[in-house]
Amino acid sequence: MKRILITSAIPYINGIKHLGNLVGSQLPADLFARYHRARGNEVLFLCATDEHGTPAELAAAKAGKPVEEYCADMHAVQAKIAEGFRLSFDHFGRSSSAQNKELTQYFAGCLADQGLIAEVDEQQVYSHADGRFLPDRYIEGTCPNCGYDKARGDQCENCTKQLEPTDLIEPRSAVSGSTDLEVRNTRHLYLRQSSLRQELSDWIAQKTDWPVLTTSIAKKWLNDGDGLQDRGITRDLDWGVPVRRGNAPWPGMEGKVFYVWFDAPIEYIASAREWVDAGKGDDWQRWWRTDKGAEDVRYVQFMGKDNVPFHTLSFPATILGSREPWKLVDYIKSFNYLNYDGGQFSTSQGRGIFMDQALEILPPDYWRWWLLSHAPETSDSEFTWDNFQADVNKDLADVLGNFVSRVTKFCRSKFGETVPEGGGYGPRETALIADLQNRLESYQTHMEAVEVRKSAAELRAIWALGNEYLQAAEPWAVYKTNPEEAATIIRLSLNLIGLYGQISAPFIPDAAQTLRQAMGQTDPLWPEDLNQALTRCAVGDAFNVPENLFGKITDEQRNEWSQRFSGTRP
Ligand code: 2FM
Ligand code: ZN
Repeated sequence: MKRILITSAIPYINGIKHLGNLVGSQLPADLFARYHRARGNEVLFLCATDEHGTPAELAAAKAGKPVEEYCADMHAVQAKIAEGFRLSFDHFGRSSSAQNKELTQYFAGCLADQGLIAEVDEQQVYSHADGRFLPDRYIEGTCPNCGYDKARGDQCENCTKQLEPTDLIEPRSAVSGSTDLEVRNTRHLYLRQSSLRQELSDWIAQKTDWPVLTTSIAKKWLNDGDGLQDRGITRDLDWGVPVRRGNAPWPGMEGKVFYVWFDAPIEYIASAREWVDAGKGDDWQRWWRTDKGAEDVRYVQFMGKDNVPFHTLSFPATILGSREPWKLVDYIKSFNYLNYDGGQFSTSQGRGIFMDQALEILPPDYWRWWLLSHAPETSDSEFTWDNFQADVNKDLADVLGNFVSRVTKFCRSKFGETVPEGGGYGPRETALIADLQNRLESYQTHMEAVEVRKSAAELRAIWALGNEYLQAAEPWAVYKTNPEEAATIIRLSLNLIGLYGQISAPFIPDAAQTLRQAMGQTDPLWPEDLNQALTRCAVGDAFNVPENLFGKITDEQRNEWSQRFSGTRP
């Protein structure tokens, strides 16, 4: 049994995420977690909301709520939607937790003890109109790297470059829009990550099996000379983890907080502590400390490409720099962007389909299947309503749903609702099982390698094998002259439904459960031995006919939805 630690990038607390966010981190992470659990591995799958920093403060101000209250409310909203999509987190934590405060202050203390923290008098932008400093997203302007005119003070969304507020061209306050800004002195802590450049570069050089998207972004910022500049890890804000050196005060840093990107990844660890403190687990250190059992854990992270610099450079700098035996990530799976109908999904502009809206119109399996089978792995991909309708109708309704319905209904009418006996297999059955064996092995290989689209394609092909077999074997015709042979075909086909209920669960958990229940297989059991798995539904076992596994999306629905989601969300 392997032990797999899985984290998804923790979504910002401000607002409900869109489908592009979902397919870039939480959903593929869930696919991977479900697959490994099904294979009998020990999995700890963690996520949380990212609650600190300027996005939270700005959104709370807009909602007219105190930031603590806003975060608590939005955490509950996001947790409920995550459940709606069947995201199977072992814990969905909060970066504002007491556990994260303590760990963040602890890491800062370790880094200071290692001489990796510098106190720097720096210049920050102060807004006269707002009466405050404008760190990170409190300031917007033009990116000096690519010219994008809505770059924020911490990072350019367009080219992923990490920025300082003073880098922006024609800066303006994100609160008031004021350009009456002044650069003032203020003292901050800097993480001296440039001194870890060689170590990080050697570490990344070993990661030859990582996706090119991940390593290319990491190497770009490592090698272009400015990606690994020492960076400020504190801010002049009220909301965040108060700056302390472990559990001691930090003279000169009173009233300041750690930068959200310093404490957010530490929440991956804190979430495991929250999981234990919530009584759901009994030992978090065995997942996170290599001196306490985590040396045999495989740790896999999932994220969108804009998050890659923080996970390949900044967070590893915190872990390595602490000089303590914390678990480093083993594999970083990153994603390009999903576009929406000829443009970008955009939270700030309310463009696209948001997670709550998606669940209002269709059950989660439809979204899970389409999104995962179109995951933007090697390039950006695009959601269009035509494509969504065509693919969902074909894969889920015509291929999988139709097979299940034809087999179970034919059996019910000719043999009743129990598995019929029939005789032994002929060459067609032997060939089918050999094809299934090959496909199943490659499905497993792709899943192990976190190749999401390829896994989906293999699963789709396994579903199609069932239809092709049925089409060629024609039990309805055979029945007229040889009912026993028709019974054999149906017995094998019923077993295929059971098999689909097992192996499809990572992609479409609800439908897969319906299939298993219909076949009387309540427990998930991976077909480690295919021949055995295809005899699980034994002669005389009862089954039932699942009603409407997947309905087709009609042209009227497609038109109505594409209309409804064509504008921007208020
Ligand atoms: O991009 C985002 O949504 C960030 N909140 C991701 C943080 S991931 C991690 F480092 F915590
Ligand atoms: Zn840019």
